[in-house]
Amino acid sequence: MKLAFIGTGNMGGALAKAASKEASNELFLVNRHPEKAIRLQKEIGGSVVDAAEAVQAAELIFLGIKPVFLPTVCETIRPLLAAKRDPFAIVSMVAGVSISSLRSQLGADYPVIRIMPNTPVSVGEGMILYTSAADEFLEGFLQAMCHAGKFLPIEERLMEAGMAVSGCGPAFVDLFVEALADAGVAGGLPRKDAITAAAQMVLGSAKLILESGRHPGELKDAVCSPGGTTIQGVRKLEEKGFRSAVIEAVLAAKDA
Ligand SMILES: NC(=O)c1ccc[n+]([C@@H]2O[C@H](COP(=O)([O-])OP(=O)(O)OC[C@H]3O[C@@H](n4cnc5c(N)ncnc54)[C@H](OP(=O)(O)O)[C@@H]3O)[C@@H](O)[C@H]2O)c1
Repeated sequence: MKLAFIGTGNMGGALAKAASKEASNELFLVNRHPEKAIRLQKEIGGSVVDAAEAVQAAELIFLGIKPVFLPTVCETIRPLLAAKRDPFAIVSMVAGVSISSLRSQLGADYPVIRIMPNTPVSVGEGMILYTSAADEFLEGFLQAMCHAGKFLPIEERLMEAGMAVSGCGPAFVDLFVEALADAGVAGGLPRKDAITAAAQMVLGSAKLILESGRHPGELKDAVCSPGGTTIQGVRKLEEKGFRSAVIEAVLAAKDA
């Protein structure tokens, strides 16, 4: 498919990287300061173009700008979309902007797929929550992005809750891994080994949850031998409010 990425920053760039792994995709990269798009193009291929050329060429137009820049981008692409002859859909990752608000800013009820991705799409392990108002494009979208990770359809009203868990989640996990590694270093492990051990443990634990289908609490119980060491760590995490801290962090992100 022909895909345009308007905004090739952290998230748009990560999605473009995933899209580049599907040989049948053709990518058009647009960024306010083109140097960023040029750097990305050197890594993943595609063409660096302006918004007019990208909109004219693409079947899927990804919006990867921050919410604050959406009005400017809509103003630029509104006449371009109106003049477009071939069928297309908009794919919006812009947090907090509903499909109806986006359509009104674009001036017509275009097909829209609203997504909430996360940065691990760049390594094929992303979580992409989506609400489709573009069913005729959905299969093509899923096929074009098949190297990005897992896809989960959700009701649009749940997008902010989903964003706080899986969109913001990588930052929370990074903090957790960094803290684990700090503790490893305090215990004498070299920094690099401590980070590898912590990150691989998180990867493996996540895989075990997903592949076993077992509840995380049950898997935790399986590591905690009676009278053993792990349960002492769990006791300390509870004492320090670990679970409450995580719940409050996610809700703070959701309500921000
Ligand atoms: N980061 C995440 O993990 C994440 C997760 C889920 C959803 N999102 C959503 O993804 C969107 C992008 O976030 P981000 O973290 O990727 O931000 P970012 O790194 O700042 O990237 C935004 C990009 O948009 C470009 N841009 C701004 N105005 C433009 C214009 N008029 N035309 C073309 N490009 C323009 C910026 O270019 P310059 O650098 O030249 O200014 C920048 O490269 C946001 O709406 C956010 O809510 C992000």
